[in-house]
Amino acid sequence: MRLHLASGNSHKVAEFQALAHASGLDVTLVSAREVGGMPDVLEDTGTFPGNAAKKARALKARLPAESWVLADDSGLCVDALNGAPGVESAYYAGPSGDSAANLRKLVEVMRAVPEEKRNAHFTCVLLLIGPDGLEWVFEGKTAGRLLASPRGGQGFGYDPLFVPVGSSLTFAEMSEPSKNAISHRGRAWIPLAEFLRTQIRGTSVAGHRSP
Ligand code: IMP
Repeated sequence: MRLHLASGNSHKVAEFQALAHASGLDVTLVSAREVGGMPDVLEDTGTFPGNAAKKARALKARLPAESWVLADDSGLCVDALNGAPGVESAYYAGPSGDSAANLRKLVEVMRAVPEEKRNAHFTCVLLLIGPDGLEWVFEGKTAGRLLASPRGGQGFGYDPLFVPVGSSLTFAEMSEPSKNAISHRGRAWIPLAEFLRTQIRGTSVAGHRSP
């Protein structure tokens, strides 16, 4: 099965490719870049599923009707900031989506927040659109805490600041397989992989039709 990914983020594409490979599925991930680029989408719905649906539908509209499209919307929700940056994670420091500036801003905003109040979680919503416009949604979360200063050179985004529960390493200090095993994206992938397995086997599962 070919699965079109509604993202131009090469780190995300690589993470999804690794997840598909690790789950042993006969799925080929096709980046939006390979089919003319990801269409511009205003992520303005205020929710992870809403934004994921906009991205998936925008790419689906460009592709043949029989295509499968997957979109991901994810972000970091910080308790001390009432869930911010949340759905605004990619644009926290401004509309250019500069991830180094986003990280610097978070370090700054959290500077005075004590250790015991630095809890946060990553959320990932995966929205799949199949042939005929049926849609399915899958979600994963990873809880953790934020360091005062970044550590590690792997991954992307807020990874250098985030230490997941049960680990002493930041996401940016982990190998890709170690991060994928506990990440919000890896956790959302598990039910999606189960679903794709049923599709590959030819069993149908109810979805809902796009408006
Ligand atoms: P999206 O591409 O609109 O879903 O925005 C996701 C944003 O959330 C990214 O640009 C990052 O800032 C942040 N984010 C999501 N997942 C991760 C992750 O695994 N590590 C670090 N940052 C992440």
